Amino acid sequence: MNRIFSGVQPTGNLHLGNYLGAIRNWVTLQHDYDCIFCIVDLHALTLPQDPVQLKAQTREVTAAYIAAGIDPEHCVIFNQSSVPGHAELAWLLSCLTPLGWLNRMTQFKEKAGKQREDAGLGLYAYPVLMAADIILYKATHVPVGEDQKQHLELARDIAGAFNRRYGVEFFPLPEPMIFGTATRVMSLRDGAKKMSKSDASDYSRINMTDDAEAIALKIRKAKTDPLPLPADEKEAEARPEADNLLGIYAALANLTRQEAIAKFAGQSFSGFKTELADLSAEVLGKIGGEMRRLLAEPGYIDGILKRGSERANAIAKPHMNEVFDIMGLLRP
Ligand code: AMP
Ligand code: TRP
Repeated sequence: MNRIFSGVQPTGNLHLGNYLGAIRNWVTLQHDYDCIFCIVDLHALTLPQDPVQLKAQTREVTAAYIAAGIDPEHCVIFNQSSVPGHAELAWLLSCLTPLGWLNRMTQFKEKAGKQREDAGLGLYAYPVLMAADIILYKATHVPVGEDQKQHLELARDIAGAFNRRYGVEFFPLPEPMIFGTATRVMSLRDGAKKMSKSDASDYSRINMTDDAEAIALKIRKAKTDPLPLPADEKEAEARPEADNLLGIYAALANLTRQEAIAKFAGQSFSGFKTELADLSAEVLGKIGGEMRRLLAEPGYIDGILKRGSERANAIAKPHMNEVFDIMGLLRP
């Protein structure tokens, strides 16, 4: 069976972009693939984290996976640092990765900002660790949001570089799976910025744990232009804030973008925003409630992660032994 690997960083508030761009898609794919879902805590360390918060957020992301509908009996759910193969393979792959490939990564440029000299080596090397995450399990498919596309292309290049260097067909080249009507959910305050965990404005994102009141307030305050809703797809494309809200609506209502645009064409934003808020609250309310219930039982969450890391390691370890052998690393 084909294998899926994907992950989310435990770095802050999980939001609607994480849900619609990634986690929700995993739920629909979980029975057609052999699935491994990771909480990528080593990736979180590429920027400073509070140690106490990092542990809490690791449990929170785990709870979100389960609350959203991922079956922990069927799928492997674990945190990255509990399987040593990720860090090991990342080093080995870093020795095969030209700097020129990493220099092209736009996310590094965004996150490093102007003070490039102060950015950490980990932030720069991050896509190599991401490639290691995936190919450690010989995963064939990787469902993610649009923003990870460039990292996945690099993961394919790195897997190919390993195979070529050693003259083997060892690692499959992983295929990105980017689908749905909300592959890139934008900030509610700025249609040119993606919704992100690190945005300073609380009003920019809807968190997976927000209650109905918070959701309604954020959607009411969401930036829009003074015109009625767009009449057709062409008009929607030219109006990023409206297009974003329509994309979110479509994803939550299981409509195509075209159907959502047709449903509200020419109407005023106020009625649409109320419908969008009600629908968001209905979907997220159930997930948030279940997350809170799960988080009240940290023992249960830790048990899932422990069992997940054993299952993940059972797949990773034999692959690492073969990699050591292929690369000429002696295991006396
Ligand atoms: P991160 O929050 O960076 O750990 O992202 C975890 C997953 O959510 C990845 O698959 C991302 O591509 C996806 N994701 C993050 N932000 C968004 C967004 N604004 N829209 C769609 N997908 C997103
Ligand atoms: N880089 C991804 C993000 O920030 C998270 C991630 C790490 C990931 N390793 C991965 C996603 C492997 C898919 C596969 O969103």
